Amino acid sequence: MEEPAKTLFSAIQPSGIITIGNYFGAIKNWVELQDDYNCMFALADLHAITVFQRPENLKKNTLEAYALLLACGIDAEKSLFFIQSQVNTHSQLAWILDCYTQFGELSRMTQFKDKSTKHSDNINCGLFAYPVLMVADILLYQVDMVPIGLDQKQHLELTRTVAERFNFLYGETFKITEAYIPKNGSKIMSLQDPGRKMSKSDENLNAWVAILDSKDEIIKKFKRAVTDSDSCVRYDDKAKPGISNLMTIYSCATGKSFDEIEKEFDGVGYGKFKEAIGECIADKFAPVQSRFNELIKDKEYLEKCYRKGAKEAFEISNRTLNEVMKKIGFVQ
Ligand code: TYM
Repeated sequence: MEEPAKTLFSAIQPSGIITIGNYFGAIKNWVELQDDYNCMFALADLHAITVFQRPENLKKNTLEAYALLLACGIDAEKSLFFIQSQVNTHSQLAWILDCYTQFGELSRMTQFKDKSTKHSDNINCGLFAYPVLMVADILLYQVDMVPIGLDQKQHLELTRTVAERFNFLYGETFKITEAYIPKNGSKIMSLQDPGRKMSKSDENLNAWVAILDSKDEIIKKFKRAVTDSDSCVRYDDKAKPGISNLMTIYSCATGKSFDEIEKEFDGVGYGKFKEAIGECIADKFAPVQSRFNELIKDKEYLEKCYRKGAKEAFEISNRTLNEVMKKIGFVQ
């Protein structure tokens, strides 16, 4: 008998800028995994409001992120691709699972610690409970795997803990899912401070490269990337974190190994290396940018895709939610 297809879920916040960190850590793998998995992807707009968003920006960013992911290669025919806030089951299950997650567990989440320091004027309960919404996103779809970057690993561990706790209390309900973290590219670092993750919320605009940055911007940002006083292109993430990060980016974009990259740039110095990466990244995303420019004009097509996505996502996720509610003892 044929084995049922393996399933996968992942999501991204539509907070304006989607970086090459998001791309190499997550989106690239989502696109590739579509051939072998039944995939479900969401734009996590409910997550985005843990930081204040202007209504017009949230709307614009969500539509743009939807079009950009399609332009990157998410296939709305093959995969289920929806907007989280259009599927009510997510916030419903999140509330329920809040009651099965300990305060202490959420207090240990490093992203909460980072974000609450950064947004000290708005440490809202959503920011604290945010990982539980992510737990609900995943568990609703009973998936085998969740492809993510390294910064989301702790949230995946929480997902497994909460699922196991619920299964222990009420019997087998949730599938225990595995994280898929790529060997290369799971943590793309800032171009200005290679000790920190590349993040779209970094105020230093030279720290990140967005998929939609112009060719000039991309080349300029790589030229300004912080390296070291040596001049040898060699991978050593302890002694040469800046160059090692650039090598990782180049390797993700070209599929070349670090050995091959070292040979390619042997004796040429950092200037030429940075120029080559800038050109390579700009060329890689040029076709994505032109597809994006087409898609963003076609609001009707986008709406058709996300409506279909939401309808199917509701049907699948509502089965899990109903089972959970029945097991807890809510009147049916
Ligand atoms: P978000 O929107 O911050 O990031 C989306 C994906 O990009 C990865 N990523 C990176 N990978 C490598 N290097 C980087 N510098 C880098 N920056 C970001 C992230 O690890 C992530 O995989 N809470 C999630 C969204 C989410 C989710 C989910 C993910 C909501 N529900 C359920 C998986 C499953 C987030 O804020 O990701």
